Amino acid sequence: MSHVITLLPGDGIGPEVTASVVAIIECAGVDIEWEKYFVGSEAISRYGDPLPPEVLESILRNKVALKGPVTTPVGTGFASINVRLRKALDLYANLRPVKSMPNIITRYENVDVIVVRENTEDLYSGLEHEVVPGVVESLKIITERASTRIARFAFEYARTHGRKKVTAVHKANIMKMSDGLFLQCFRNVAKEYPNIEADDKIIDNLCMQLVVNPNQFDVLLLENLYGDIVSDLVAGLVGGLGVVAGANIGENGAVFEAVHGSAPDIAGQNKANPLALLQSAVLMLHHIGEGRAAQRVQDAIVKVLASGPEQRTRDIGGTGTTADFTAAMCEALRKGTRAGD
Ligand code: NAI
Repeated sequence: MSHVITLLPGDGIGPEVTASVVAIIECAGVDIEWEKYFVGSEAISRYGDPLPPEVLESILRNKVALKGPVTTPVGTGFASINVRLRKALDLYANLRPVKSMPNIITRYENVDVIVVRENTEDLYSGLEHEVVPGVVESLKIITERASTRIARFAFEYARTHGRKKVTAVHKANIMKMSDGLFLQCFRNVAKEYPNIEADDKIIDNLCMQLVVNPNQFDVLLLENLYGDIVSDLVAGLVGGLGVVAGANIGENGAVFEAVHGSAPDIAGQNKANPLALLQSAVLMLHHIGEGRAAQRVQDAIVKVLASGPEQRTRDIGGTGTTADFTAAMCEALRKGTRAGD
């Protein structure tokens, strides 16, 4: 079956890692017609807008996009296109599965945690003002509607992926109304899922517990700001932003993206690691019903990382290039493909 997917290569190392991932998906035998659009600096110079309306229309039509990193220009008045995409498409759930991988040396083994972050409100509502000179106010918005739908997303994810426990993370002991509402919505939704354990942790304790023993956690559910911080902390447990997947999901569509930036220091040098975007593409393949191909790519990643350093890029201790990794992945996929797959 053929799929039509919006492709946003982005800038910096974006085009390199995107080209690699597109090639690997082709090697996995998935038939995708890519609708490619410029976003970011390239779109500013061509159309005067880093996120032209055709891009949103394409994602709304196709329901799925794969996106490389995009430089956020400083001091130009243009808002981050990541934030604009999330708002315009109401991509309310940020999903980050974090799992230990072979030959990526870290302090912890067998980490396997899913971070679910609410993407639309909290202190990210952009409601800030100066009350009097020297005093500013930033509003934290928490609603029953958004808290309930993100809690349901987390439990549904747990149910459909065989996960056993969802832990809500909060500071309801201090922010009794806002975090209290988030926690209450979580507890209400939890009653609909009697087969999944539901517990909660105060954010500061969670951070300590994560670095002492990350293996005690399964699915973590967080508001926007705590989620932003903790999702990077958890990525650090398995090797950092260069190796983990990210997706922003809503009723209108889903955008699968690398969580690292555009790495201008290494752009165009064949040094970029496509692994993070590839992990996001694995999530995307699951999302579009290509679970078997997703599994083949996942198996090939494990195989390639477990083999020689010349097949891995330098940021994860290898000696290889972007092209070496891509070639090794395609080779592993060719060898790993079983008849009938
Ligand atoms: P960055 O993630 O681009 O780079 C930080 C360091 O990690 C650099 O040394 C870079 O070479 C390295 N690195 C990052 N990704 C890598 C990869 N795939 N392979 C090998 N090395 C990699 O963060 P930075 O420098 O803070 O941001 C650069 C630009 O990216 C900024 O304009 C920022 O706004 C933007 N950005 C975009 C994001 C997105 O589109 N999702 C996310 C984060 C930042």
